[in-house]
Amino acid sequence: MKFVLVVLSCLLAGAFATKPPKWPDVYSVSGMLTIPYAEINEPFYAWYDKTNGRSRVDYYGGMVKTYQLTKQGDYGVSLKLAPVTTQNQMNKETCLQVNGSASYKIDVQGILPYVRDFQLLGKLAPSIGGDSTGRDQRMDRSRS
Ligand SMILES: *[C@@H]1O[C@H](CO)[C@@H](O)[C@H](O)[C@H]1NC(C)=O
Repeated sequence: MKFVLVVLSCLLAGAFATKPPKWPDVYSVSGMLTIPYAEINEPFYAWYDKTNGRSRVDYYGGMVKTYQLTKQGDYGVSLKLAPVTTQNQMNKETCLQVNGSASYKIDVQGILPYVRDFQLLGKLAPSIGGDSTGRDQRMDRSRS
């Protein structure tokens, strides 16, 4: 009986271990890009869908939108929607398309960092209206 308990707790510890945390194949993220000394604070939004081969990242609070559509065309398509100013028009919403090629395939673009070198320190209290699963992880680079 004692042996079974030990095995069970080892299995549970394995199931709850998040080192390194594995991000899901589908997620959305919003955040703030901050460059302290330049006093730049730009909200960004990102959607990542590896399952369907699509991602989108919005910069400057949504003023610039980028799409990575890996299943369109032979090698994927990348779209960028941004205001463009020319001699005749001011801030005209413009869509720029780049087609992938054999040597440059369009890939989904994740925004969460590669965390293999990080170590989970603990979970923070859930934020108001938020959930505590995964989002509130605090990590530190392991000193190995
Ligand atoms: C990308 O591919 C589409 C569909 O084949 C084509 O209409 C378009 O002109 C291409 N765009 C560029 C920039 O190559």
